[in-house]
Order: sequence, then structure tokens, then C-alpha cells
Amino acid sequence: MHVNRATARAFANIAFIKYWGNRDNKLRLPVNGSLSMNLAGLYTETMVRWDSRLQSDTLVLNQRAATEDARKRVAEHLDVLRARLGLVGYAAVESHNNFPMGAGIASSAAAFAALTVAAVGAAGMELSERELTTLARLGSGSASRSVPAGFVEWYAGDTHEDSYAESFAAPEYWDLVDVIAVVSAEHKAVVSARGHQSANTSELQVARVGGAAARLTACKESVLNRDFMAFADVVEHDSNLMHAVMMTSRPPLFYWLPATLTIMGAVRDWRAEGLQVCYTLDAGPNVHCLCMSNHAPEVESRLRATPGVEAVLVAGAGGAAQVITSAN
Ligand code: DP6
Repeated sequence: MHVNRATARAFANIAFIKYWGNRDNKLRLPVNGSLSMNLAGLYTETMVRWDSRLQSDTLVLNQRAATEDARKRVAEHLDVLRARLGLVGYAAVESHNNFPMGAGIASSAAAFAALTVAAVGAAGMELSERELTTLARLGSGSASRSVPAGFVEWYAGDTHEDSYAESFAAPEYWDLVDVIAVVSAEHKAVVSARGHQSANTSELQVARVGGAAARLTACKESVLNRDFMAFADVVEHDSNLMHAVMMTSRPPLFYWLPATLTIMGAVRDWRAEGLQVCYTLDAGPNVHCLCMSNHAPEVESRLRATPGVEAVLVAGAGGAAQVITSAN
């Protein structure tokens, strides 16, 4: 059967060991490998229809015509996919998220993972998961990690083919939960792509990158050993290092709001009291509070009672990106 339309769903992910800075900005070859967990329930669903009658690629985002910047970024990624799939026509793309965009919940990761998987599915092609991760990476680095299931490592690699992601533990392996304190759901002022480009302007980036491989190994071991205290130590440190680089870049990037810092302090106090919880932040002010599932209700209610918290989202480990419907 000739397929030309498919819808894919991909989950957002939260990095435990961060991606910040590229060796090659065009290929998105990162300066260090990273680790993450997919976030069950926080997803992007994207429909791609290859249509030879279209005069250009079109994009509808959350039920509205997208901005020209967003459409262009998608069209550029579709150029890469057209070349790989041997297609010439344009595509109509419709995408929606079920979580707030642009506030450190890695909407671009879920978006480019879903776009890649849907576009390939709509062409009636089957590519290996490894290749799908490399293609998704070209759209947004962290998107490579939203393709495989559960707990995922993205290898830095030296070439396009080597810089891929794979699962190192299934979602059920560890009952870790991300309780996200949303302190602002506004779209962030500086997109990650520009932040990656300025990472090298901070003297601290060399130090961050120098220790990244050792932190990644320690973090992966802590997940595999289900050792929460070791995990908490390395995850908070890696997040702090990335934010130190951000704050000392030229121009500096300050993503924290007052409530962000309040929550970071509270989480450390709660851990000292015996709650198994730690924090990590992406390029935004929201605080991802990673905790064991039996402590998640308590963490959630404490966050809801914290001034400045607008909403709380709760997500366990999620599965792989996949096509959910296809048709011609
Ligand atoms: C802070 O993947 O959004 O979330 O490749 O330019 O799209 P682009 O950047 P992006 O960067 C994510 C940065 C981060 C850390 C992480 O997820 O590893």
C-alpha cells in the first residue's frame, strides 16, 4: 500500500547529564555525550503528509499557523529528510504539544523526534532506530534522545553516523519520577541554538566539558544500580555546571527566576530530611525535581504549596517515539 501520511508521537526528555555546546553547529555534534529519561505523558504529536501539489512546506503548530521562523526550521529539517528518503515534494505538517512550549521542558526534543519519525513513516520507509536518532539530532540535538525508549545515552561521536542515541535501560527499570515545578510557562527569550553557540565564550566551558565523561559514567552507573543518593549528587552538580557556563557566557544567560532558586534550596533541604529528591534545570526557569515514585506525591504537594509555582507536571519514564497512525 502506498502511504503518504503518518502521525507520530514522541515524549519530551529531561537530561541528567547535559548537552551544552557543539563541536559542529550545523551537524549538531555535541562537545560531550549526554544522558536523559523520556517523560511519559508529556508529548508532541505530529502529522506529516507528503503532497506533490504543495508549493512549499506548511506548518500548523498547536492549531495555529506557525511563525515563519518555526516553519523555516521545520522546512530545513524536511530538506534533510527529503534528501535521505529520495523525495522531491513538499509536506504539510501539523503538530501539537500537550505541555507548555519553550519553558525548559524541551519541546524541540519531542517536536523533532516526532517530525522525523512521522516524515519517514509517511514516506512508507523503515529506518533503523539508530539512524532515526541521527536524523532527529540534525533538527535539534536533544531530539536524538527522544527517539529510543526509557533511559537514553547520546554518544557525542566524531561523525554524523557516530553521534547517535540508544536506550541503556527500559522505562520500567527504575521508578524515577520527574515532578516539574513550572514557575513560568512563557516562551524563553534565548533559544538553545544560540546558547550552544556562545557556550565557548565562557572560560568555565572547558572545565565543564573536561569532567563530563566521568560524570556521565557515574550517572549511568547510579541509574543501573538504582542508587538514588549517587544519582542526586551527580545530576545536581552537572546542572549547576551548565548554568555556571550559561551565566558566564558573553552575553550572559540567566535562566533562573527567584522561585527557581527557592525551590533548588528547598529540594536540598527535603533530601536532607530523607525525601529522595534532587533537582535539574534545562534552559529555562522551571525546576525538574527527580524523585523516587513513592516520594512523588509528597514532593508534588510541597511544590504546590511553594510561592511562585504556577503548575506542577508529573511524569515517569516514557517509551520510544513511534508512528501511531498512517494512511494514504
Ligand atoms: C539545556 O537540543 O534544545 O536542554 O540542538 O539547538 O535544538 P538545539 O538545542 P537543544 O538543547 C538542549 C539543551 C538542554 C540540555 C539537554 O537537554 O541536554
